[in-house]
Amino acid sequence: MMTMAFLSSSYREELTFPEGFGWGAATAAYQVEGGWDADGKGPNVWDTFTHQGGDRVFRNQTADVACGSYTLWGEDLKCIKQLGLTHYRFSLSWSRLLPDGTTGFINQKGIDYYNKMIDDLLANGVIPVVTLYHFDLPQHLEDQGGWKTGAIVEVFDAYAQFCFGTFGDRVKLWITINEPNTLALLAYDKGIFAPGVPNPGNRAYQTAHNMIKAHAKAWHSYDSLFRKKQNGQVSMSLFSPWVEPADPTSAADQEAAKGIMALALDLFAKPIFIDGDYPAVLKSQVAAMSKKQGYPSSRLPEFTEEEKRMIKGSADFFAIQYYTACLAKHQEYSEGELNILKDINTEVFPDPSWKVSQPGSWISVTPWSIRKLLKYIKDLYNNPVIYITENGFPQGDPAPLDDTQRWEYIRQTIQELYKVTAIHLDKVSLQLYCVWSLLDNFEWTQGYSSRFGLYKIDFEDSALPQVPYKSAMEYAKVIQSNGVKRPL
Ligand code: BGC
Repeated sequence: MMTMAFLSSSYREELTFPEGFGWGAATAAYQVEGGWDADGKGPNVWDTFTHQGGDRVFRNQTADVACGSYTLWGEDLKCIKQLGLTHYRFSLSWSRLLPDGTTGFINQKGIDYYNKMIDDLLANGVIPVVTLYHFDLPQHLEDQGGWKTGAIVEVFDAYAQFCFGTFGDRVKLWITINEPNTLALLAYDKGIFAPGVPNPGNRAYQTAHNMIKAHAKAWHSYDSLFRKKQNGQVSMSLFSPWVEPADPTSAADQEAAKGIMALALDLFAKPIFIDGDYPAVLKSQVAAMSKKQGYPSSRLPEFTEEEKRMIKGSADFFAIQYYTACLAKHQEYSEGELNILKDINTEVFPDPSWKVSQPGSWISVTPWSIRKLLKYIKDLYNNPVIYITENGFPQGDPAPLDDTQRWEYIRQTIQELYKVTAIHLDKVSLQLYCVWSLLDNFEWTQGYSSRFGLYKIDFEDSALPQVPYKSAMEYAKVIQSNGVKRPL
């Protein structure tokens, strides 16, 4: 009944998507669940980071309670059904399942929670897309060196095998690691995300290296131990901006734009989708800069031949997360400055003429750019099946329920996706689009000040009520008609 009333306003479909196109929404465990120490859950790096305070997060907010999804899953499910989602992407809290990160101790309550989510989704005809790890490394593993050490590769693989074995009879779409590129940059290079220790120019490469190997190992475990029986698919989701040269007539700026695409996306995608190795341009530039700085070898580690063979081809689809475009400009830096952007002599910034989603946001309103990115992936990565596992637009707090500006961004994005998938236009094999996010939630260092949800949450009210924004109602219409309205 609720769904019918929700969809009752007149809607005329004009741009129809291919049959079976997936329409989803996404969340992540730490950002929505709360219940940070409930029922035997172990602490993760974000629990520690937020509890330490120190003004690294907006108003020292935490996700101890967040949207309360650990106890209010039934309410989340109502939103999912009201939207009519075909897919729901969520992540497993590693330390809720394995409190110290290892399979030495398994928390049955955690298994019960995710079993219920998965069973409820399937009972309602919604396909679960499950991320194993979305920024919330178990604290115990961090204490042992976390992503900085090669030992994490085996530990992650054991966790992945445990999840495939426990939930894989029902979960057919897996993401191993969410945005390893964002994590490498924000957590380990800049140190502004948990665990919060900056180490510019070194750690990003070191942790990226271990995350790529961990992903590949888990993919092989799925391939050899589970695929035959479970028949699912496994990939890693990568963040990418779309980068344009600041001065399109400058050859140096054109190279700078390519350099940023290489650093942000190709550093991960080329090994996995092409040949098991990093882009040559990055290998040579980081090696040259490292040499000038007196390092005995390149700060970008090398894969062994065996590792290259393991990494090459270790994904069943291309999962991309896209928010915004930016400009790149060539900028010569002295070798005294250690920073991964400086390794490629590039500066990035938004075009001042672009609107921003909310004051101070890193997201410029550039819905046109998603088409360029998807064509880039199609051309460079041999026309893979692509899933957009996140795309969204934040509002400030207080966020108006009539979020017309935001819906216009999402609507225009979907209109671009129509061109991307259209058989007479780009013919990209795009099969799924997920909005970030189902709910307003804990937006990392911005706490609750940045609202990405299709549903508004009143975090001041202990019942944490969920109210649809206009975008939710409009998205439901798109899903129902498998298409979007062209503007008049
Ligand atoms: C992350 C989400 C985050 C979103 C908006 C993505 O990079 O995967 O966790 O909330 O961007 O910033």
